[in-house]
Amino acid sequence: MIKVKDLTKRYARTVAVDQISFQVEKGQIVGFLGPNGAGKTTTMRILTCFLPPSAGTASVAGFDVLEQPLEVKKRIGYLPETPPIYPEMETLGYLRFVGKLKGLSGADLEKRVDYVCERCAIADVKTKLLGKLSKGYRQRVGLAQAIIHNPDVLILDEPTAGLDPKQINETRDLIKDLAGEHTIILSTHILPEVEQTCEQVIIINKGKLVATDSVRNLRARARGAESVLIEIAGRTGPLDIPVVQHKLQQVAGVSRALCKQQSDSQAVFEVESEKGRLVRGDLARAVVQAGWDLNELRPAAMTLEEIFLQLTGTEAPAEEEKVLVEESHS
Ligand SMILES: Nc1ncnc2c1ncn2[C@@H]1O[C@H](COP(=O)(O)OP(=O)(O)O)[C@@H](O)[C@H]1O
Ligand SMILES: [Mg+2]
Repeated sequence: MIKVKDLTKRYARTVAVDQISFQVEKGQIVGFLGPNGAGKTTTMRILTCFLPPSAGTASVAGFDVLEQPLEVKKRIGYLPETPPIYPEMETLGYLRFVGKLKGLSGADLEKRVDYVCERCAIADVKTKLLGKLSKGYRQRVGLAQAIIHNPDVLILDEPTAGLDPKQINETRDLIKDLAGEHTIILSTHILPEVEQTCEQVIIINKGKLVATDSVRNLRARARGAESVLIEIAGRTGPLDIPVVQHKLQQVAGVSRALCKQQSDSQAVFEVESEKGRLVRGDLARAVVQAGWDLNELRPAAMTLEEIFLQLTGTEAPAEEEKVLVEESHS
């Protein structure tokens, strides 16, 4: 459904996208993962015909973004990083306006407007001004405008950025729900987002493709060993960190224990275990038997940076800000 081949985009001196190639099959929901400045938005803007590539090709449903942009646009719904919303318009008026731009009219237009309002759970704000809506509602109106013409492909640029946890869940559920009918690419810089929503993942860093794989395979590749975080408190007085560390390291199957955080009365350790070993039960027993309190024990979430480190063996990716600072100094 989407084919990208050796795609490159340069802005003045920055190579924002550097010869990336990938494919997305019909009906897939794909996470486009990378830190700030990786080139996600640039790639999405090329796919949606807002920007021409500097080199390479991109096509949607067999139509090239440069040669047949109108055909591409017909088949794509786009939610940009900042939803294209006019604060002084009402929800209904706005959706009718976007629908008309996409070539809908009359009864068809009204039917689609009703449908997307229902679908995106915005029916109760139909007559509200967009400027007065909460961020969560605004994002759902953004999704509604993206699907108004029932496109084959949805391109969603950081659809949950800036939302609170409840809104994130609602938006995620909605996206998953839409996945049955549309091929979806969504970008994010948050790894759990991809795990919870997507089947496939494309990782880019500094404009380059780092990996493209199923979420399952990626996890397996990235995670050689299991890691847990354990929060321990002393019952009678301050903890002796080296003693605790030694104790944890003695648990069978534990390869490493590192103190990540400590205060007067408690400490958090990250404990790595050998591949395939389940050590949580033994860890908990060891802590309690030593006379300490076990406040918390949870899997250590792998950060994007850690996945990057493991996949690429390079340093953690630079933040967009840093890149910009370097730019303005050079
Ligand atoms: N209009 C622009 N002009 C110059 N540089 C840009 C422009 N847009 C993006 N960039 C640069 O291109 C790189 C990729 O940006 P972007 O595609 O926005 O990444 P992401 O969406 O992954 O955060 C960054 O280094 C960014 O600073
Ligand atoms: Mg972006």
